[in-house]
Amino acid sequence: MKVLVVGSGAREHALAWRLLHSARVQHVYVAPGNGGTALDPRLQNVPITALDALADFAAAEKVALTVVGPEAPLAGGIVDLFRARGLRIFGPTRAAAQLESSKAFAKDFMQRHGIPTAAYASFDDARLAHAHVERHGAPIVVKADGLAAGKGVVVATTTAEAHAAIDDMLGPNAPGAAAAGAQARVVLEECLVGEEASFIVVCDGRHVVPLASSQDHKRIGEGDTGPNTGGMGAYSPAPVVTPNVHARVMQEIIRPAVDGMAREGMPFTGFLYAGLMIDAHGQPRTIEFNCRLGDPEAQVLLMRLKSDLFELLVRAADGALAEHELQWDRRTALGVVMAAPGYPGTPRTGDGVSGLPAGSDELQVFHGGSALRDGRIVTSGGRVLCVTALGDSVRIAQGKALAAVRDIRFDGAQWRNDIGQRAIGRH
Ligand code: AMP
Ligand code: GLY
Repeated sequence: MKVLVVGSGAREHALAWRLLHSARVQHVYVAPGNGGTALDPRLQNVPITALDALADFAAAEKVALTVVGPEAPLAGGIVDLFRARGLRIFGPTRAAAQLESSKAFAKDFMQRHGIPTAAYASFDDARLAHAHVERHGAPIVVKADGLAAGKGVVVATTTAEAHAAIDDMLGPNAPGAAAAGAQARVVLEECLVGEEASFIVVCDGRHVVPLASSQDHKRIGEGDTGPNTGGMGAYSPAPVVTPNVHARVMQEIIRPAVDGMAREGMPFTGFLYAGLMIDAHGQPRTIEFNCRLGDPEAQVLLMRLKSDLFELLVRAADGALAEHELQWDRRTALGVVMAAPGYPGTPRTGDGVSGLPAGSDELQVFHGGSALRDGRIVTSGGRVLCVTALGDSVRIAQGKALAAVRDIRFDGAQWRNDIGQRAIGRH
């Protein structure tokens, strides 16, 4: 069987790598892929990003399954397009992807279905947004409505910070306006407290198979300081997701979401990702939904997954997920992201990367913003690599990942030495 993975990040590298382990998979294409997928002789990059051209390619090559990594093609309707052409694809339709592509849709949906989340109000008029901040005070969370790669969020600790964020997001150059092709909006939210975790499930429209728990580190700096990024590292499992929390998340968040989408005529097929804030009493609240795997959560989850990924995703795409059970490596997987200088602002690119280790079952370097040029790997984006290791404890996995990180060189590389620290602190 041939498989097509759509995307170019470390998440897609990890998906392609894991799919190669499936007995029935003979060939994995990655469109457009990156330097890491180009280096692996078992993977083949195809330089296509237009949705129509991807469908043409899948049809011509008789691709048995297409798996979509990032949100943008999903929000752009790639699943609707493939299905209309009779091509098997795993991911949500454009309508279902609104759970991520529109924060206002997601918040209204959660309210309709009683899914616990932060109180919020949504504005397109800057004056009304400023007045709301004055009424509520700080801390308060300001979010751009629309896809912003995890970076359109400001957790404002002062009202001045909140006012500045509103001006940024509702100004003439607001990214939300361009992406939505419409009026920019901001969502102002109650600031939740607790510990975050990522809870990701596979859905076939009705049935749900949960993946293992994981935790992402969103801030650029050690000790969770500085601006938000797409994610600077992750580990799995996340001890904050106890069996009790797991049961509550399934019952209070995941089931109502999947049932609600089906009832509203937008059955959700794909990876459904609930970003959670879990308070001191073990009450989970939904920070956001994503309609895809997390990056870097995917890298640690796929490192631990022992079940056949191809079989899982084919069943889900075919609406036949019931009674599927997953097996996981009992060890901890931990991934450290190496980012280019300038990230999460505009990263510098074109720097040579050296010292990459040979991969093994216990250590993998998944590439994101890298390219293969004249036989050498150069940086080409913000999050360049995700160095991922398995170990018998969080501390051991962290030690293995960091040892590899220290051997890898590119100018101005940034990484965090404290990925997994919260879990280490628990033991
Ligand atoms: P999002 O893009 O919605 O995932 O937000 C990015 C990050 O901002 C989250 O991972 C949280 O760390 C933080 N955040 C978002 N919303 C809230 C909230 N209502 N309360 C506290 N922190 C939040
Ligand atoms: N790591 C967070 C995300 O993928 O949204």
